[in-house]
Order: sequence, then structure tokens, then C-alpha cells
Amino acid sequence: MATESDRLQAAFLDAVYRRANRDDGAYYVDRATAVDGPVLELGSGTGRIYLELLEAGVDADGIDLDPASLALLREHADERGLDPNVWRGDMTDLRVDRSYALVTCPFNAVQELTTIEEQQAFLASVYDALAPGGTLVFDTFVPDFEYIAEQWDEWQQRTVEFRGEDHEYHTRSRLVDAVAQEYVSEKRAVAPDGAELFAFEGRATLLPSREIELLVRQSPFESWTATGDYTAEPLADGHSAQVWSLERTA
Ligand SMILES: C[S@@+](CC[C@H](N)C(=O)[O-])C[C@H]1O[C@@H](n2cnc3c(N)ncnc32)[C@H](O)[C@@H]1O
Repeated sequence: MATESDRLQAAFLDAVYRRANRDDGAYYVDRATAVDGPVLELGSGTGRIYLELLEAGVDADGIDLDPASLALLREHADERGLDPNVWRGDMTDLRVDRSYALVTCPFNAVQELTTIEEQQAFLASVYDALAPGGTLVFDTFVPDFEYIAEQWDEWQQRTVEFRGEDHEYHTRSRLVDAVAQEYVSEKRAVAPDGAELFAFEGRATLLPSREIELLVRQSPFESWTATGDYTAEPLADGHSAQVWSLERTA
């Protein structure tokens, strides 16, 4: 069961991510409208991208591990007159009853799989959920060590308007395992009266492109491409997002 703090966290982060105006949404809508067949979004969260797929007329399903995010996604869908088909599920162990033309996993969600076993289970599970000719698309950030050296370890603070009031939003990322390149991302929001809305700590892993490529080479996928920053440009130095497209040909 989601607690009040879980619900506030989902709603607060939803507001933060929506206002960030990321350019991934339009990219995923384009990918989803270009295929002939159903689409599954993994880690659909509060529906920032998933609901855009429904708006665009895509036959899209979604899964997420977090019940509070799914509840908020359903509320947003209601407000917009959309009919979502989402459920609580784990992307490393998909239970689906149809074959998808496209499976997407946007916005660094793959980085939350922190063991090789989870990463391999994810790729094998998605492969099985795809129809022959189907594609998996996911994106992760390119680890930028200059940025990490400058910004990580220190708490960052900014003001975020949430439900009509200014809240203080504190974030900190820090490496917790230098060998495995695992980090913890901490997030905390405080109301104007000083009350803490939520405090969150999530573990994730840095993924250089060659590590992803080795995982992909070991996976059942037959072919793949990596592009940068939600464009058709081949992934290259200077890009901040790496977008991987893996094809199931057989
Ligand atoms: C950074 S959020 C992205 C949410 C949304 N797709 C967006 O772009 O705004 C990552 C999401 O992945 C979900 N997630 C993490 N691990 C997962 C797993 N193993 N299976 C399903 N969802 C997972 C989290 O609960 C979270 O909602």
C-alpha cells in the first residue's frame, strides 16, 4: 500500500519532471506512432510520456513497480479523459499476454537495475515480450565525470512551486561503490512550514556505452543501434543521453 509520503513524493516529482520540459516525450511519441502494433512502456511512472502516447492514439500498455506513481497516472488519465492500461509489474520479469511491436523504457529507468543478473533478465524478458520484427528502445544518461566531480556529494537546493506554495527541494547524488560505479540519488522536499513532504533514496548505476553494448551483445537481440540526445545522430562524444534501439528480428 502506498503511504501519504509515497503519494506526495510521486506528485512532487511528477511536477518537477513535467516542468523540466525534457525532449524525450516527443521522441518516444514519434517512435510509438511509427510502428504497426501495440506498445509497452516500462517504468511508466506517473505517465509523463505514457499519457502522451495515449493522446497520440497509440495502443499502449504500461508497467511500473511503484503503486503511488500508477495511482497518479490513473488520476491524470481521468482528468484528460484517457483510458490507461497499466499495472504493477517488474521489467525484469514481464508477465504479458500479447506481443508488442515496440517496448520502451525511458528516462534512465534501466539504470535502476543494479546487478548484471537484473540487466540480463530485463533484456531477455523484453525480447520474449516482443513480436518478431519488434524493437526495444531505452535511454540512459552518458556519465559525465566533469559534472560528477563538480556537482555530486554536495546537497543542491532549489525552490519548487507545488500545489500553489514554494517548497524547498534538496537533491544529492553520491557514488557508494566506486568499483561497480553505483550511486545513490537522494531527494527531499520541505513545505513552507518546515514539514518534510518526503525523503527518498534510490540506488542506481552509471552505464558507459561500452558496458551497455557488452550487455546487448550477450542478449538475445540480433541487431542494435545507439543514437544521441533523442536525434538520429549516431551516439558520439558530447551527447548527454544515449538512446539504444534493439531489434528482435526472428
Ligand atoms: C526516472 S522514472 C521515469 C518515469 C517515466 N517513464 C518518465 O519518463 O517520467 C523511472 C521509473 O522506473 C520505475 N522502475 C524502476 N525499476 C523498475 C522495474 N524493475 N520494473 C518496473 N519499473 C521500474 C520506477 O518506479 C520509476 O517510476
